[in-house]
Amino acid sequence: MSVPASAGVPGALDGRVVLVVGASGGLGEAASLACAEAGASLVLLGRRVPKLNRLHDRLQKAGAAPALYPLDLEGATPDDHAELAARIDAEFGRLDGIVHVAAAFEGLTPLELTDPATFARALHVNLTARWWLTQACLPLLRRSGDGSVVFAIDDPARTTGAYWGGYGLAQAGLSALVGMLQAELGDAPVRVSGLLPPPMRTPLRAKAHVEAEDRVARSPVEVAAHCVALLSPAGAPHRGQLWSPGAVLPA
Ligand SMILES: NC(=O)c1ccc[n+]([C@@H]2O[C@H](COP(=O)([O-])OP(=O)(O)OC[C@H]3O[C@@H](n4cnc5c(N)ncnc54)[C@H](OP(=O)(O)O)[C@@H]3O)[C@@H](O)[C@H]2O)c1
Repeated sequence: MSVPASAGVPGALDGRVVLVVGASGGLGEAASLACAEAGASLVLLGRRVPKLNRLHDRLQKAGAAPALYPLDLEGATPDDHAELAARIDAEFGRLDGIVHVAAAFEGLTPLELTDPATFARALHVNLTARWWLTQACLPLLRRSGDGSVVFAIDDPARTTGAYWGGYGLAQAGLSALVGMLQAELGDAPVRVSGLLPPPMRTPLRAKAHVEAEDRVARSPVEVAAHCVALLSPAGAPHRGQLWSPGAVLPA
């Protein structure tokens, strides 16, 4: 199923407030810029303030000053996520979309040799923290009338193979979460979807592939349009589904 090419055009997110989780990563930065271009008001969550500030300045120059929310998902508690939701409510009075693009991956390692803390961190940041944050924001998303939660997922068909460890297991969990959560939400005005991006040239990809020899990776800018599409009304056909875009939309 394809999303209309118009989904990435300016105006697709007019009037919407979008939370980008992992905003200073490769896809996070590209998605933030694309969402701003599409008209969204942005809340940018990331763990490093200097990186967030740099992105803030780029967006400000483009005429879209985002709110910044520094938070390390590894240590954030459910109360921290509740506070995030309360502060978005206080500042914007609404939340229409979340795009989850934060990811913890420390490289390919056999399970037997994986540091126990690394394993736990991967499951926590990539799966549990994503759910805790989404759970805290669901009441706000329901009020939106067309709330959308987008989980970037690294294709479990590949990442549940050998050496992907806690990161790969978390991708399998995220894939299940999309269908489970949508089934529970029923016809509530909140859409949940999984975006399975193609390989992208980012710091995460560089931990498993030698960049100079990586012929298939694309720019995350190409994938950012898909994030916009899923956050916009054009994403409705992907409700409760995993979407692996075949053709890349123009950025
Ligand atoms: N790259 C690919 O080829 C590819 C393919 C398929 C799917 N994906 C998925 O696409 C999404 C984006 O990946 P990417 O390639 O853009 O990765 P990336 O460039 O490495 O960005 C990941 C971001 O997550 C942040 N992060 C990590 N741990 C965090 C924590 N504890 N708290 C808060 N933020 C944290 C990182 O922060 P710092 O900047 O501080 O490190 C970084 O900004 C991920 O869900 C990934 O699974 C990627």
